[in-house]
Amino acid sequence: PFAPVILAGGSGTRFWPRSRRSRAKQVLALQGERTMIQDTLARLGPLAGCKDTWVITNHWLQKIISEQLPEIPQAHVLAEPAPRNTAPACALAAFLLEKTEPNTVLGIFPSDHVVSNDRRFVEVLQKGIDLAAAGENIIVLGVKPTRIETGYGYIEQGSRVRRDETPAGFAPIDIYRVRRFREKPDPVTAERFVAAGNFVWNAGIFLWSARTLANAVREHAPEMAPILETIAAAYGTPDFDRVFREEYGKCENISVDYAVLEPRSGKGESRSNIYCLPADFGWNDLGSWASLHEHLGEGDRDNVMDGETTGLFAIQSAGNYVFAPGKTVALLGVDGLVVVETDDALLITTRARSQDVSKLVRAIHESG
Ligand code: GDD
Ligand code: MG
Repeated sequence: PFAPVILAGGSGTRFWPRSRRSRAKQVLALQGERTMIQDTLARLGPLAGCKDTWVITNHWLQKIISEQLPEIPQAHVLAEPAPRNTAPACALAAFLLEKTEPNTVLGIFPSDHVVSNDRRFVEVLQKGIDLAAAGENIIVLGVKPTRIETGYGYIEQGSRVRRDETPAGFAPIDIYRVRRFREKPDPVTAERFVAAGNFVWNAGIFLWSARTLANAVREHAPEMAPILETIAAAYGTPDFDRVFREEYGKCENISVDYAVLEPRSGKGESRSNIYCLPADFGWNDLGSWASLHEHLGEGDRDNVMDGETTGLFAIQSAGNYVFAPGKTVALLGVDGLVVVETDDALLITTRARSQDVSKLVRAIHESG
């Protein structure tokens, strides 16, 4: 069996002012008709039923997510009492599923990604699911970098797994050992990684059996494990809400990458049961206005006019991103700008600085 776990608890502040606390980017239609979380669920359709799918989110998004995904059982849309990043969310899913079906393959799926080839996505995932089902394997999906990007994690690939080394009963495919994870490098390091050739982007998609993930949490995040086991034990009982509320906040605030994937084995070596599966299905994490520009535009110098901007006049201006519904926008002698207007706010920054919009939003909140 396969159970997708969709993570939808991020604050998504980098898409301010379109995204707000109660309107994080997952529930926005940043491209096309469907919202990002609806796209995520639709993409998984051929691999799993909605009844087997879980969503882990927060209180301020729970209602809108349930409305946007009516097919998912209410009891599978969990709202964290307090945001604790992705490690506790993944661990909760692992302990919940381990109770009933420890061999279930659990897939972690962020809800803020775009994929251009859905058919290929299903093919690649199916291979990953088979490999995860074949033993205590952890499968991470790696994307060939197309630019120097500091907003992602990188995976340093080791040797290609030889045909005779693939787990029993598993048809050989193109998979690599993982030498190490390097989360969010600085620009100089990122440039070195991209030039080296054996580094791929961590797509944030992980496959492992419930038992494998639960055991990895017990080993590498031992303080977190008993808390989540307590919560999982209460699931389905009348005490669940209270236990969840009282216990969850005790977990460390840490991502699954740092807590569960990156720790080395006892001897300081990379762990032998982690494999990297190439994800060649046209993946993009719409993480910032710059990545939306890249996704929608025809190249670095393209001016992208988004939303119902009524007209864009650009003279000696290139590589700008503009979202201004109902407005005519005129650009003169400016390059690489991001201009986003909503009813009550206007953002003006550059594509190069758009990773920092979250800092800006924090500063706005702090100023009251
Ligand atoms: N439930 C829940 N609770 N979900 C969360 C929380 C939380 O506290 N924090 C983040 N998420 C969700 C986000 O909504 C998103 O769907 C997913 O988990 C990943 O979190 P991000 O905050 O978007 O992570 P990131 O983009 O900085 O980094 C991760 O993804 C990159 C690729 O998109 C890492 O895995 C990187 O290594 C990776 O390259
Ligand atoms: Mg992200």
